[in-house]
Amino acid sequence: MTPWWKNAVVYQIYPKSFQDSNGDGIGDLKGIISRLDYLEKLGVDAIWLCPIYKSPGADNGYDIADYEAIDEQFGTMADLDKLIQKARQHHIRIVMDLVVNHTSDEHKWFIESRKSRENPYRDFYVWRDKPNKLTSAFSGSAWQYDEATKQYYLHLFAKKQPDLNWKNPKLRQKIYDMMNFWIDKGIAGFRMDVIECIGKEPDQEITANGPHLHEYLQEMNRETFGKKDFLTVGETWSASLADAKKYIDPKRHELSMVFQFEANSLDQVGASKWDLKKPDLAELKAILTKWQENLAWNSLFWENHDIPRVISRFGDDGKYRVEAAKMFAIMLHLLKGTPYIFNGEEIGMTNCPVESIDDVNDIESRNMYFAGLEKGKSKEELLRSINAKGRDNARTPMQWDDTANAGFTTGKPWLHLNPNYREINVKACLADKNSIFYTYQQLIKMRHNYPMLVDGDFKAVATSDNIFAYERVLGDEKWLVVCNLTKEEATFTSEYKIQNALISNYPARTTLQDITLKPFEAFACQVTC
Ligand code: GLC
Ligand code: CA
Repeated sequence: MTPWWKNAVVYQIYPKSFQDSNGDGIGDLKGIISRLDYLEKLGVDAIWLCPIYKSPGADNGYDIADYEAIDEQFGTMADLDKLIQKARQHHIRIVMDLVVNHTSDEHKWFIESRKSRENPYRDFYVWRDKPNKLTSAFSGSAWQYDEATKQYYLHLFAKKQPDLNWKNPKLRQKIYDMMNFWIDKGIAGFRMDVIECIGKEPDQEITANGPHLHEYLQEMNRETFGKKDFLTVGETWSASLADAKKYIDPKRHELSMVFQFEANSLDQVGASKWDLKKPDLAELKAILTKWQENLAWNSLFWENHDIPRVISRFGDDGKYRVEAAKMFAIMLHLLKGTPYIFNGEEIGMTNCPVESIDDVNDIESRNMYFAGLEKGKSKEELLRSINAKGRDNARTPMQWDDTANAGFTTGKPWLHLNPNYREINVKACLADKNSIFYTYQQLIKMRHNYPMLVDGDFKAVATSDNIFAYERVLGDEKWLVVCNLTKEEATFTSEYKIQNALISNYPARTTLQDITLKPFEAFACQVTC
């Protein structure tokens, strides 16, 4: 049986920023329901819903206080049930975010755990007498002293996100029960937050890829989704090709696919995402090629709620915004794997720079800023990093139309809107047959209709650095995809003849011999020798 996600496209929703239905400035479940027609028009097969569980919101929902309750700001369990049911009527499945490396410090397990060293929940978390050198992804030590029991607890993320102890079989069973609760509700998959960290060995300072990681995933698979037609995608920041092969090997019964982030460090120097450098496009090509040639199934994405908008980052969000957005879409969606679209990407939303830390919401950016000031860095330098890489860039509210607050809310939005919403919005895109939206719509249709995209082999084509070209080959059929990665014209030539034009962001090409590609030009065609 072919799993449902093989020819599917997943749309990621950041619920807080998608659509507010009650004027409190915060996106909610009813808001998402009201936009299902739009998503059906786009053609996506599934929604990956970022966390909507009960949470104090220290990390916008990635700090969960109750896995089986909906946070009031998003609505009720009845609203979620309705979303699952209504989405089904629009041929859209729901993929939930599974955050099980840590909980909120307000989760009842942690409230118990911190009460005494003898508490039955003590070992649900990681407690030590002394901290070691482990640091939090959100700056500072990963250990927090807790006065009540005079020990330190581990938090690889914020202080309000204590790490769960996966060595404890009782904890693991609770997690599996919770997963089954959601599976029984009729969801179609889980996106697994920082799943590579659950096998951590804090005493050896191992966070990702611990020795028992794959064992836990196999157990999870057996105890929960293993026998279902279900999508599981692991967020694995440090996965090498060899790691990824393990996660997705069908014989190992772990996950469907992983998000790997090798291309994500192209615009940084060294280990810190905040130390900026100009991305080298030749490296981007090399990375994409390596993963396409060597991994049986990839997840394909440019954006998510943690990383900047792709056109601002690797392309052009000014003069050639539309061409660049379509080029990145064509380049990615014709590769082998499951494509993910982050809300707003399909209309070419851009990064949203700020002038002051007061306008920054994201905990990662804020912690980095204040830690940086202490180390003597300048405000200007810190803001430059935040404007390039900060997570708020992708989290500004969805731009639906050109009315006040872009139709996102009638109240005061929880996070500022990108002022360019008057030009860049869904309404304008839908009204323009040549918009980025329709390129995405066409790419999604292609994924549904052409076995080539699922089963065809990938072959890189040698070109100059500023062009990325590849073939897809299935039986006697051959496709050629050509993308100019830059705003400069670029020359390209091929011996092939065009049999059939498939998609392009400029008028369709009729020949491949000695052509001059326009800025950010991309096209795909069926070819013969
Ligand atoms: C993942 C999430 C991110 C979150 C972190 C901690 O990387 O995508 O948003 O802050 O995990 O849960
Ligand atoms: Ca609301």
